[in-house]
Amino acid sequence: MNGAGAEAGVGLVRKDSGHVQTNLDEAGKLTCLVVDDESYLRQAVRRLMESEGFECVEAASAETALALLAHQPASVILSDVRMPRMDGLTFLREVRARYPDTAVVMITAVADVDVAVSCLALGAMDYLMKPFHLDEVRARVGQVLEKRRLVLENRSYQVRLEERVQAQARRLEDQFLATMQAFAHALEVKDRYTRGHSIRVSQYAVAIARAMELEPDIVRQVEIGGHVHDIGKIGVRESVLNKPSPLTDDEYQHIMTHPMVGWRILSPVLTDFPLALHIVRSHHERFDGRGTPDGLAGTGIPLVARIAAVADSFDAMTSGRAYRRGGRLTLDAAVAELERCSGTQFDPDAVRAFLAAVAEGAISSTHGPPTGELAAFAEPVTAGHGG
Ligand SMILES: [Fe+2]
Repeated sequence: MNGAGAEAGVGLVRKDSGHVQTNLDEAGKLTCLVVDDESYLRQAVRRLMESEGFECVEAASAETALALLAHQPASVILSDVRMPRMDGLTFLREVRARYPDTAVVMITAVADVDVAVSCLALGAMDYLMKPFHLDEVRARVGQVLEKRRLVLENRSYQVRLEERVQAQARRLEDQFLATMQAFAHALEVKDRYTRGHSIRVSQYAVAIARAMELEPDIVRQVEIGGHVHDIGKIGVRESVLNKPSPLTDDEYQHIMTHPMVGWRILSPVLTDFPLALHIVRSHHERFDGRGTPDGLAGTGIPLVARIAAVADSFDAMTSGRAYRRGGRLTLDAAVAELERCSGTQFDPDAVRAFLAAVAEGAISSTHGPPTGELAAFAEPVTAGHGG
């Protein structure tokens, strides 16, 4: 540095001033690193900065400065541009990459206007041109620290804001899931045969969806849809829902209103989960178009509903619930039944994915005792295995 002048001590933000606090480093200090190969200029700047309340460290080269920074970060660095070996611009790049929170003021010669511009382009907060007066140093450093304070405050604010938004999103998600659980519990109170069924259907459907390598968001919706797929049974008369003997046609028609009833109940709630809503409405559709409520066929049935249909039927068979009065099937027997109905009742792709999930051990029928030895409702001969 050339041209260091007087060392009057006013102007910089001080430790005891109100707005300097956010400029303090973690240790509660304002620290300054002075980098210059000319010792007397280095020392002059150092004395000035110390008189302003900074803890100062000197470095005679950029290499030494980087070594010092590795142990002790600095609030602000004043660095010469022209130095032997690593020059100031290279040093600036390194500092910006490693210590983005450190404010850097570069010191250049009058002839180096282009260099000064380059310094700003590389992220220096300001530059000083030689010869400079120490009052100028004081004023520039004060401005730079204020700028740094605002940058740090802004970043801190953004981080806090993001954390609050994430926490709020988590709360909303928790509330939503609690609401879904409340629906499921309400149904369980009314229909003892569904106890555990919805959870297992959800788990099986998720295993199938994963075997099909669907996106995580889709898998999530499959999980939610599985939990609430039978919610419409809330609207079914208990005398029908819990009837121990086979159902009449009218009773069967009544019970099979549950996909549409569930869809109407949950439509205002599942606005962010349209695929889960598809499961509620279409899990009794059949691949051959003979299902309910819309008589959709093939790929006209939402994929998630085709998946849920397989999961639902597998649980109905292996839990021995509903119309299957012969008791529950073994895993092998249930798998054979799914394969037999692949392409008619079930989507062959969903059945294949189901078989893959079974082969991987993601699906087994180890869910405890049968949940429904008695018939909750009967279905036509090959019309369905689900409930
Ligand atoms: Fe159902």
